[in-house]
Amino acid sequence: MKSLIVFYTRTGNTKKIAELIAKSLNADLDEIIDPKKRLGIFGFLKAGYEATMKKLTEIKGIEKDPSDYKLLVLGSPIWNKRMTPALRTYITRYKEKFSKIAIFCSAGGRGEEQMLDSIAELCNKKPVAMKVFLDKDFEQNFVENKVEQFVNAIKSNF
Ligand SMILES: Cc1cc2nc3c(=O)[nH]c(=O)nc-3n(C[C@H](O)[C@H](O)[C@H](O)COP(=O)(O)O)c2cc1C
Repeated sequence: MKSLIVFYTRTGNTKKIAELIAKSLNADLDEIIDPKKRLGIFGFLKAGYEATMKKLTEIKGIEKDPSDYKLLVLGSPIWNKRMTPALRTYITRYKEKFSKIAIFCSAGGRGEEQMLDSIAELCNKKPVAMKVFLDKDFEQNFVENKVEQFVNAIKSNF
């Protein structure tokens, strides 16, 4: 199956996960770039506020056409229990081009299930698989194992 992983990351966790999934699925990768300043205390507060308000944002870096792929894997950190403005903008802009989807998020451990459901709802699709990766999974070396579980779930439900 020809697959594309599309993700946004602020501090690199989602990117590490996306790269592992891409390797395991032999998939292409597209990183959504949000050029707004998201670091520092004001960047952090504004990020949370914009996620809560379901804001869209400017996005850059999109190189692949999702309609060229049988499977699209969407990944984002969770901000204030919601998807990031960057992922929300990507989905809003391109969702008519999606075929099957799978979704993952990186999270500290608050509100993930609700956030994954809201991504599926915005895409208006039932995902073949969904997975939460917690920040502590990196410390405990669980990430590779969870990627394998996620990829197996994708393959068996595709
Ligand atoms: C503005 C902001 C809000 C956040 N809100 C949540 C939250 O509601 N629940 C949660 O579990 N983690 C929350 N986090 C933590 C991130 O989702 C988590 O650290 C994630 O792994 C970061 O991914 P990244 O390195 O790809 O940017 C928040 C982080 C930021 C910056």
